[in-house]
Formats: sequence, C-alpha cells, structure tokens
Amino acid sequence: MSVYCEIVPYFDAIEKVRAYKPSGIILSGGPDSVCREGSPFLPLEIFEMGIPVLGICYGFQLLAKSLGGNTVSGGNKREYGKAVAVRLDDGVLFKDLPEQFQVWMSHGDRVDQLPAGFKIFAKSGNLIAAAADESKKIWGLQFHPEVVHTPRGKEILENFLTSACGCKRDWTMASFIKSTVESIKAQMGSESAICGLSGGVDSTVAALLVHEAIGDRLTCIFVNNGLLRKNEFESVLQNFQQRLHLKVLGVDASDRFLALLKGIEDPEKKRKIIGNEFIRVFEEESHKIGNSSFLVQGTLYPDVIESVSVRGPSAVIKSHHNVGGLPSEMKLKLIEPLRELFKDEVRKVGEELGMDESFVHRHPFPGPGLAVRIIGSITEERLFVLREADAIVQEEIERAGLMRDLWQAFAVLLPIQSVGVMGDDRTYENVAALRIVTSMDGMTADWAKLPYEVLEKISNRIVNEVRGINRVVYDITSKPPGTIEWE
Ligand code: XMP
Repeated sequence: MSVYCEIVPYFDAIEKVRAYKPSGIILSGGPDSVCREGSPFLPLEIFEMGIPVLGICYGFQLLAKSLGGNTVSGGNKREYGKAVAVRLDDGVLFKDLPEQFQVWMSHGDRVDQLPAGFKIFAKSGNLIAAAADESKKIWGLQFHPEVVHTPRGKEILENFLTSACGCKRDWTMASFIKSTVESIKAQMGSESAICGLSGGVDSTVAALLVHEAIGDRLTCIFVNNGLLRKNEFESVLQNFQQRLHLKVLGVDASDRFLALLKGIEDPEKKRKIIGNEFIRVFEEESHKIGNSSFLVQGTLYPDVIESVSVRGPSAVIKSHHNVGGLPSEMKLKLIEPLRELFKDEVRKVGEELGMDESFVHRHPFPGPGLAVRIIGSITEERLFVLREADAIVQEEIERAGLMRDLWQAFAVLLPIQSVGVMGDDRTYENVAALRIVTSMDGMTADWAKLPYEVLEKISNRIVNEVRGINRVVYDITSKPPGTIEWE
C-alpha cells in the first residue's frame, strides 16, 4: 500500500522494535491459539510506545487477552469464510464504509470480553468483529482486511495507515529506484560488479538496478546448462542484450552439465550436480572477466524473512531451493538491491525499468530446469521430446490468455510407456503429465481447473506433433500433499 514496512518476529527484544522508530504496528494473524500454553505472546511495552497498534485475528485475540480482556476457544462459534460485518460506529477505521460490509473470517477462538476502555465497532452475528480503544490508539479486527474476500479491506488498512498512523503512502517504486540507484553509486564508487542471471524476474531486475547505477561496469553471466526450455537461451539472451541493454556474457555449458548428469536418476543428486557445476562455470567466467569486487544477487524480502523461523533458527524453510549459492572464497562483496521488496514490488520496478510485461510476469522456473521434469535419467533425446511438448503447453496457455492466472504450467516426461494406436499402427511410447497450478507464492498450490477445450487442444497437439509421446495425463494433486515439481 505504498508504505514501507518490515516484518519482525514476536520474540524480538522491545529495544529492537523501538529502534525501528515505527509509525505504527500491525500484529498479524497466525494459526496458533492464544489459549494454548507456549503460543506467541506480546511484550506489554508495545502498548506504551504511544503509537497506533492494529491487531488482526490472532493479533486481536492476543491484544485483548494481554490487556485484561478474555479470548476463549472452540465451541460452536467458529467462523470460516464469508460473513457480514454490521458497523455500530465508524471511528477511524470504518470511515465512509456502509452500515454492512462483507468480510472474510477464519477463526476458532473468539474475543468474548474486551479490556476496559474498549468499545465494539462492528459485530458479525453476535460475535465481536471489530473493537478499539481509540483514546489509546489500539484497534482489533477479528476478520481479515488483507484478503480479496474482504472487498473494502484495503480502505480499512488505508484508514489505519493514513488517519491513525499518519503515514504518507510515498514508498513508491519510482522513489525506491531513485534512492537505491543513489546508494549503489555511493557504495560502489568506481568499482565493477558481476551478476549471474537465471533468466527469471528477480535476478534481471537486480541487474537492471545496478546497471542504472554503474552502466557497463556491470557484467552479467547467463549460463546455458542444457536444461532450459525450447529456444530459451537464445531468446532470453537476445532480450537481455538488445532490449534491456545489459552487458551479458552467454555461456553455453550444456555439454558439461549433460555429461555429469548421465545415468543419474536421483533428484537430489541431480540438483547437487547442477548447483555445483553452475558455481564452477560462474567462477571460471568471472575470473576471465577479472577485477570485479561486487556480486549482485536478486535476494527478495521473503528470502530474508524465511530464514528466520518463529520456532527458533533450526527450522529454516526452503533450503533445497538455493541452487545458486556462490562460494565464499570468491571474496566478493554482496549487493542485494531487492532485499526490501516483495515479488509484486519487484515486478513494478521491472516495468519502470523498461521490462516487457510478458517478461515481468514470467512463470517461475526451477534452477535445475528440465532435469527435475524428466523422471529418471536425462538424455538428449528425452530433453528434445520434453522441450517440444512443453513448448506446446506454453503456446496454448498463452493463446488462451491464461498465463497471468496461473503460477506455473509445464509438462513432465514420465519413465513409463503405454500402448496406443495411430492410423493402423500400434505405438508404444512415452507418457507426459501436465502440471498446471495456481498459487500465491509457491508454498501452497492448487491444480488449475482449465477449460476442457484448452486441455483437449494441448493433449491433441502433443500426441500429434511430438514423436515419442502417445499419451497425456493431467495431474490433479494440490500442494500439500503434492509438490509442484514432480522431483
Ligand atoms: P515444489 O516442487 O517444492 O516447488 O512445490 C515450489 C516452487 O519452487 C520451484 N522449485 C525450485 N526452484 N530450484 C529452484 O530454483 C529447485 O531446486 C526447485 N525445486 C522447485 C518450483 O518450480 C515451484 O515454483
């Protein structure tokens, strides 16, 4: 909402929270129950800082309990899904909202007694939907203003940010680009940098920002590991060089990767081989370029916070996805210009810096590429078959205008052959699975309910046009319990 924010864990020391000099604090929702021993708690000093506090769902229940009210568990008063909030008073948050508005609820616990000084501002049925002590600048919402199913939720959040906290909503991507480019210039002086491009949005935007600051003192390296999609190496390289004017070295190392992967079936082994070889190629190329003292990486804010676990440092999420971890002996200083941004903000920065819309909204593609989409061992022939099938999936999804609605869409080549009949001939060929999913962040996903006509077209085209595949199946597993990739 164009207001700079940071996410901190509840157990951070209060001195650390004060040091941020926040204009306001939002206590988030969460899956725990405040009635459970050992659940996340709140230092009461938060309420003595004299700044506005907004508790959402768990955050509301927690603040009510912490300030002398009461939250209870269970019973038959759970609310999941759509509900109607009836406004009793508008106060700061509900300014200009109608008397009744749709909200999204998701809670088993409920606040059944408010702390002294609190007043109910909205109810859903006979439950408290919103309450506050406006003289102390403390608000609580039982519903979720941040989801699309609360259509007026953004206005409620805006009221909190601007009217309660006095924030200006001036954290725009144009202002971010300006200040970031200035600080990169100051940090780097006349030195040079290198950047490994993956072909994805994050590393490209990071490179573009640094390029804004230091021009051709930035050299990018884009490695073809032989596991990219059809024509991807050439088209992405061309886009980098001709449209985005980056100085990019395209390194075709396919043979090296494919030789190392020969006969390897285990997915984790495939990942390790590809990750290690990427580092080797990158090191060799950067030594050839010489004299760089900085390394640019496209680390995003979720990568930064995901390495802080609320249950202590042991449970780090997502470790297996860090394919391109670069060796420490390179002694390069890191530049991570996107560390403060979320994905949607990175896309906005990309657009402001001249990236095409289709490039900005590219689907994620895993570092190990098609290696984890060919089940079993990888051969040139199987890569060729999968690339052709995958290209048809991309074309038909694009043609149906569905790219933006989907998180990922791809084909997987299975190590199974099945009998078919084509013309008068019996065939005995491979099976391809289609994996097409919707997701917000890749952590959970659902299989896409694509129109039958689109699925039919994809299936017909693959079987007719790709020699080596005679059967197409559709994967209807959500994540969890499935994962998005098959390996
Ligand atoms: P899974 O398969 O774990 O994937 O549900 C979640 C998201 O991560 C991508 N993915 C990877 N990305 N290296 C990557 O850079 C990997 O080894 C890797 N494995 C999965 C996947 O495409 C999906 O977007």
